[in-house]
Amino acid sequence: MNKLIKTLTMILLLGSLTLNAQVKVPVYLDDTKSIQERVEDALSRMTVEEKVGMIHAQSKFSSAGVPRLGIPEIWMSDGPHGIRPEVLWDEWSQAGWTNDSCFAFPALTCLAASWNKDMSLLYGKSIGEEARFRNKTVLLGPGVNIYRTPLNGRNFEYMGEDPYLSSKMVVPYIKGVQSNGVSTCVKHFALNNQEVDRDKVNVNVDDRALYEIYLPAFKAAVQEGGTWAIMGSYNLYKNEQCCHNQYLLNDILRKEWGFEGVVVSDWGGAHNTLQSITNGLDMEFGTWTPGMAWGKTNNYDNYFLAQPYLAMIKSSKVGTKELDQKVRRILRLEFLTNMNKNRPFGAMVSEDHIIAGRKIASEGIVLLQNKNNILPIDLSKTKKIAVIGENAVKMMTVGGGSSSLKAKYEVSLLDGLRKRAGAQTEIVFARGYVGDVSGTADGVTTGQNLKETRSADELIADAINVAKSADYVIFVGGLNKSEHQDSEGTDRLELGLPYNQDKLISELAKVNKNFVAVNISGNAVAMPWVNEVPAIVQAWFLGSEAGNAIAAVLVGDVNPSGKLPFTFPVKLEDNGAIAMGEYPGSKGQLTYNEGIFVGYRWNDKQNIKPLFSFGHGLSYTTFEYGKVTADKKEMTEADKMTFTVSVKNTGTREGSEVVQLYISDLKSTLPRPLKELKGFEKISLKADEEKAVSITVDKAALSFFDADKHSWVAESGEFEALIGASSADIRTKVGFILK
Ligand code: GLC
Repeated sequence: MNKLIKTLTMILLLGSLTLNAQVKVPVYLDDTKSIQERVEDALSRMTVEEKVGMIHAQSKFSSAGVPRLGIPEIWMSDGPHGIRPEVLWDEWSQAGWTNDSCFAFPALTCLAASWNKDMSLLYGKSIGEEARFRNKTVLLGPGVNIYRTPLNGRNFEYMGEDPYLSSKMVVPYIKGVQSNGVSTCVKHFALNNQEVDRDKVNVNVDDRALYEIYLPAFKAAVQEGGTWAIMGSYNLYKNEQCCHNQYLLNDILRKEWGFEGVVVSDWGGAHNTLQSITNGLDMEFGTWTPGMAWGKTNNYDNYFLAQPYLAMIKSSKVGTKELDQKVRRILRLEFLTNMNKNRPFGAMVSEDHIIAGRKIASEGIVLLQNKNNILPIDLSKTKKIAVIGENAVKMMTVGGGSSSLKAKYEVSLLDGLRKRAGAQTEIVFARGYVGDVSGTADGVTTGQNLKETRSADELIADAINVAKSADYVIFVGGLNKSEHQDSEGTDRLELGLPYNQDKLISELAKVNKNFVAVNISGNAVAMPWVNEVPAIVQAWFLGSEAGNAIAAVLVGDVNPSGKLPFTFPVKLEDNGAIAMGEYPGSKGQLTYNEGIFVGYRWNDKQNIKPLFSFGHGLSYTTFEYGKVTADKKEMTEADKMTFTVSVKNTGTREGSEVVQLYISDLKSTLPRPLKELKGFEKISLKADEEKAVSITVDKAALSFFDADKHSWVAESGEFEALIGASSADIRTKVGFILK
């Protein structure tokens, strides 16, 4: 019997070996082959119907794969700050799953305010793990649209007013996300700098401003970050929708920058079949909904790149060259993500993500003002703290449009401070004002009951009463995620704080000199009370760990080191776009008359002193700068130039400083900004410690975009390197010559 079994086993074994030898793995599934070979092999096996099925949505957030070939569907998910809850097939509202509550990371304005590239890598890796764990192919973010006016409802999702800062901060985020085998989808390409008429407005901007201000972050995302996808924007440029735009997508993105990835439409950004075929769009999503329409049924077969396109192919009105091009890019995305067998498995609301979220938040908080050093609060000497303001308790992770989240948790400032203070200090709360009592978005509710029966005057009286008897008053106000505040779909209507907060702040500051104003917003706000209030902290929308991060800064566990990624103007008219930029445009036309003079570039040109300048941020310690030196007096276009400056911590505690390098072209044939950010280093110094900081630049840092030559030009002549603690606080400078 044994002999028989042995013989049978041998036969079976031999049989299976020969079988294996015959059944070769098809090239597209053979990961020893190049992605290019695998793409071509897969493409050759697909029918035209299968190809058309891949280039448009089949549900709110997915497009078809090729089940017959084992090529999976592609799943997209918002957003830049956390992974949106699962939605029903054809709805915007959440499906009500019980296992899709995410970790809410800080908004990208906070990340930009950290000026810390390591934080950006940590952010991307962490949020990419959450996307991977949820089996998402593409994360719909980050957003890098330039902060052109303080009224844009979506500024909170972006990285500020300066193209160099945005370019440097977006790259590590992309690499972090994509290290998980999840694609980023950098958005919104391009010139989507306001929400008013966002899907109708045709933006007119000169090439100089386009290339020097609005494109650099996207170019860095493609050429340095290597993003595998880009999202077109809703608006028009040169009267073509940006989602199918010859200039932006074919000429610039693909021909000039060499982008090999996928262009995804914004949800409802495609409006035309023929242009979608020829002008660079690869995947059409959300048609007929401007990304905000509730539950509007998308008839996916009627999408511009669905049946209408197939019919044109079948009737030989168009060929399949463009179709194959689109599908090649989508297959490449598949092999980099869904079909990449070596990618990790991700994680969700892990201890690592919590630590990362808190660290990024505390690195991004900006100490704007701290007269008489009333901050940090020494809890051991403080019996009672009055926390006043709705934003001390209101959840901010729900609302604001597509970046809205169903967070696993969100620590409010009041809870964070109470937890940190423990029994040693009493923390009392007064509402102060009523802002937005709602707390629902996409079927997600905060569960908070913010209903209020007291009148505004009663609320103020209560708050003043509480403030009188406290050692400290911490006012927590600012904006929120409701309409005409920091929210997608609408812009703000004024620079000032809503809900009569200015009056309340002035009243409270009169009754307690230890007054701290914490502004929670993703946008600049007017502060008419700036001279009545000793301390001001800019705390962004900080996500799940908000309260813990702000408390840590207020009591000094963390020494704040954030720097503003955009200018705080004193009044709205001090902003270039408002003063001369035709904001928000009319009859569908919008011209960026201010050109390259955006943000501090405008303040310098018009000699307008801001409330708080780009790059401004204080610390609980002080820093002294030595004299900057250059490693050469003259440089040629081929050279690099290194500037070195010593920085000393002259205070009593460890702290981090962002050393900023601005370049000034003393004489140029075209008008140039007085100075432009071209380098920065964030350094940590112990008390009394001194470090030499070196920043190296090449001719790119000296160049401007010459529209007539359609190229970057560095004109020989005199330049200055300005080293500063902010754009308005230049500490030392050195001249040099470009030969
Ligand atoms: C929205 C937004 C975009 C988002 C998309 C999907 O309208 O503009 O940022 O990723 O639609 O929700």
